[in-house]
Order: sequence, then structure tokens, then C-alpha cells
Amino acid sequence: MRLPYRSKLAAASVLAVLAAGAAFADPVPDAELVVNEEIELVTRVAPGPAVADVLTEVYSGWLYRESETRAMQMDDFDNPAMVFVDQGLDMWDTVDGTEGKSCASCHEGIESMKGVRTSMPKMNGAATDLWSLENFVNDCRTERMGAEAWKWNSNDMKNMTSAISLQSRGEPMKVSVEGAAADWWERGKEIYYTRYGQLELACANCHEANAGYMIRADHLSQGQINGFPTYRLKDAGVVSIHQRFVGCVRDTRAETFAAGSEEFRALELYVASRGEGLSIEGVSVRP
Ligand code: HEC
Ligand code: HEC
Repeated sequence: MRLPYRSKLAAASVLAVLAAGAAFADPVPDAELVVNEEIELVTRVAPGPAVADVLTEVYSGWLYRESETRAMQMDDFDNPAMVFVDQGLDMWDTVDGTEGKSCASCHEGIESMKGVRTSMPKMNGAATDLWSLENFVNDCRTERMGAEAWKWNSNDMKNMTSAISLQSRGEPMKVSVEGAAADWWERGKEIYYTRYGQLELACANCHEANAGYMIRADHLSQGQINGFPTYRLKDAGVVSIHQRFVGCVRDTRAETFAAGSEEFRALELYVASRGEGLSIEGVSVRP
């Protein structure tokens, strides 16, 4: 059953999952995210056009985490994701497929990927489909290297997207929602406000209406994706954007869309537009 997000029923089910006597706490007001004492990241920003009428300020999920978790992201030696970035860097130079090429054969150093993550997802070259970073990587593998596609949530893929995303660290998120992307964006927005599952909860119920509250042991953030790929301490591994979406939809006890599906790529575009102006943090650290 799908109900509009703003129907009265919503309140009851959200309250049922919020911790008993849920406390509201603003995101840490004075924390500044500076990585390696050098790279200053923007973690709070005035709302862009997508959220101008629903949010007063846009916050990175980093601001909602405990100080120990925040600290891990402030120094690359303490950031457990860096091991995986290194594996991605190795892969960048590894020849694979029938054409005898590596990524570096055509793109040279991985620094050439600077800025790429800020505009993902976006329409592909032929403007026929909305592609996430994973799709672009696989397109090069299958069409240009004669190599096999990587599974969306495989370690190879997540290592590579981590290494690529890191090249954009500190740059502002800015996706295009114009032209052919506009329909995808509308579709993503509809999903964001649709209540799914036995709990009948939309993304917006938790991440828009109740950001700041405690839900079970978690401090609810705005559910932004600027930190992805993310190292999750709970999983002791890197998590992709779509993997996180799957987890959140499952928490509403709903059937979820698949990683890489049209639905999740549309949702990714819409969520990215909600975080416009936040710095790319990938790779971030979350509980
Ligand atoms: C045979 C040459 C070749 C190889 C090998 C290759 N690519 Fe590409 N790649 C391209 C070309 C050409 C484009 C399209 C450039 C454009 O249109 O902006 C592209 C585009 C991309 C994009 C999208 C960039 C953007 O700004 O939209 C990504 C990401 C990417 N490649 C990653 C990789 C990765 C990762 C590998 C290795 C697994 C790889 N590529 C291997 C030639 C190659
Ligand atoms: C039942 C409440 C609930 C619903 C509904 C929900 N989430 Fe979440 N989500 C959470 C919790 C709890 C976390 C972990 C704490 C946090 O970062 O907010 C989380 C985390 C996230 C994160 C990671 C944020 C970060 O900075 O690491 C993203 C992205 C996200 N959610 C997106 C979504 C999307 C998109 C939807 C709709 C498909 C959704 N969520 C639905 C509860 C929810």
C-alpha cells in the first residue's frame, strides 16, 4: 500500500520507531570538518532549489555522529576506508580484459577524475539513460576494455568508486536536473515521498520531518549522500549509496528495489539535489 507522505497515519508509525522518550538534538553546532589539518569541507549550507521550501539548512551526516566517529574522518591515517581506496588505486593501474588496457591507459592518473563525483548521477553520453558512477565505470570496462562488468556492490566496484570519489573531496555537490534528467528527478522525488512497507514510512518521514531525533540508538540525519562511499563501522566495510538505500527501505519492512535499478538511480539523483553545495566527503566514516 502506498499512501501520500503527509497523511495523518504517518505520525503514529514514525513515533513507534523513534526511541522511547526520543530526544531531539541539533547536529553539533560548532564542529568543523577539516581533513588532515588541510582540506576544509562544507558540512552545512543554505538549501538549494530542491529543498528551499522544506529545509532551513542542509547538513552533512557527519555532523550527527559522535565525536570519535567524526574524528576518524579527519585524518586519513585513522580513516579505515583508506585501505580500500588503496586497493582501488591499484586496480586503476591493473590491465584487464581483451583489449589489454587499464583505466590509466586512457585516463592517465586518477587525478583526472577530479570533479567527476560531484555531478553523479547524470545522463549518459547518448542521453538515453541516467547513469550512476558505477554505470560509467562498467561502461568503460565492457565497451572499452573488453572486461567483465563488476557487480554493483562488489568489492572491486566499491574500491574503485571510493578511489574516484576521493578525487573530488572538498568539492561541492552539484547535479544537473535539467533536460532529460528532469523526468528522472521527478521520479526520484516521488519515491522519496512515498511511504513503503509495513511501517508505511517514506524517506521524508525520517530524514526530513524527524532529522535530529534519536531512532533506536541512531541520531537521525537528513540522509544526505555527499559522504559516499562510506565506511560503516557496523559492517567493517565500504557501503555504496544504493546499498544504504536498500538498508533504509528494508528498515520499513518493505520489499526493496535492487541496487542499480532505475528507481534507485532516480532516487540517487533526487537525494543528490537535496544536498547541493555540501562537500563531497567520500570516503566518510559512519557508525
Ligand atoms: C579505452 C579507453 C578507456 C579505458 C581503458 C577506460 N576509460 Fe573511462 N572513459 C573513456 C572515455 C572515452 C570516456 C568518455 C569521456 C567523456 O565523454 O567525457 C570515459 C569516461 C569515464 C567516466 C565518466 C567520466 C565523466 O566525467 O563522465 C568514468 C568514471 C570512467 N571513464 C572510469 C573509468 C575506469 C574506472 C576505468 C577502468 C576500470 C576506465 N574508465 C577505463 C575511456 C576509457
Ligand atoms: C525508519 C526511518 C528511516 C527511513 C524511512 C529511511 N531512513 Fe535512511 N537512515 C535511517 C537511519 C536511522 C540512518 C542512520 C543515521 C543517519 O545517518 O541518519 C539512516 C541513514 C541514511 C543515509 C546515510 C546518511 C549518512 O550521512 O551516512 C542515507 C543516504 C539514507 N538514510 C537515505 C534514505 C533514503 C533515500 C530513504 C528512503 C528510501 C531512507 N533513508 C529511509 C532511518 C531511515
